[in-house]
Amino acid sequence: MALERTLSIIKPDATRRNLTGAINALLEAAGLRIIAQKRLRLSEARAKEFYAVHKERLFYSDLVKFMTSGPVVVQVLEGEDAVLLNRKVMGATDPALAVEGTIRKTFAESIEANSVHGSDSPDNAKIEIEFFFSQDEIVG
Ligand code: CMP
Repeated sequence: MALERTLSIIKPDATRRNLTGAINALLEAAGLRIIAQKRLRLSEARAKEFYAVHKERLFYSDLVKFMTSGPVVVQVLEGEDAVLLNRKVMGATDPALAVEGTIRKTFAESIEANSVHGSDSPDNAKIEIEFFFSQDEIVG
């Protein structure tokens, strides 16, 4: 077990339904500590850059459109094995496949409007955290 950090995004479908607090409660109940958080609106250029790894996928342009459709809340979460733990709390990308009690099973509307994003590896977590936060915005 290692103390880790991961990047979390509460997506526009969730901010639209005023679910930031409800999602944060599930993250905190699972043992994740929110050590940085801000609400912002992604520009098309920033959303494209963040999801560049998916640029060849058929869903890329719809994903960029969705992620820029309303405010998001970006967060740094800290905890033991935070990357894996957060992915467990989020549940499967497709809410139809997500386990009962997970954020996506509880709140997601579809595979696209799936309420939250979480880094998929410690290496990507570092890159994604640096994409949104400067060091002085993170208070561990
Ligand atoms: P996220 O964890 O943010 O990473 C990429 C996102 O693409 C994913 O969550 C989904 O919201 C979105 N997406 C839309 N369609 C698909 C799809 N068919 N397969 C995987 N991800 C998809």
